[in-house]
Amino acid sequence: MSASIHKYSFEYEEYDSIDAISPTNSHLVNEARKATQLSYAPYSNFLVGACAVLNNGEFVVGSNQENASYPVGICAERVLLASLGQLFPNEPIVSIAISYDNLKGKSDKPLSPCGMCRQALQEYENRVNQPIRLILSGMDGKIFIIPQASMLLPLSFSGDDLK
Ligand code: THU
Repeated sequence: MSASIHKYSFEYEEYDSIDAISPTNSHLVNEARKATQLSYAPYSNFLVGACAVLNNGEFVVGSNQENASYPVGICAERVLLASLGQLFPNEPIVSIAISYDNLKGKSDKPLSPCGMCRQALQEYENRVNQPIRLILSGMDGKIFIIPQASMLLPLSFSGDDLK
């Protein structure tokens, strides 16, 4: 028996610094970097900030909110998505910039969203039927632009599987 081999790949953009991206995107990155200061992360000292811009032009931020009972803590991305679901239900998201301030070390490598957040981002894309562009960075250094959040989640589980 021979297996059929499948290959998954996607393209994303890499920029050397915030100076190399468009003014609209650099504004969003700066807002995400500022939002790190709203983080409550006394346990990890890893302050994550995210800023979304919506189709209607609104900007909304989120930050990670930790808890002494560690698993209770919520990542910045899911804090942001939960806010958006309440504030602007069903309004599509154009882009989300995510950044972090690592109080114990460097913050110059683009942040990569955790698996649970990738699942939550994919759900939002499906809900409003529009891809979310992710703009990933640290407080400085390279910036990655991913055209569609769900590209980070191959072979994913979604609502379609429940039909
Ligand atoms: N964190 C986020 O907020 N987003 C991510 O994508 C990665 C991790 C938070 C969770 C926790 O509060 C801290 O960063 C360290 O894992």
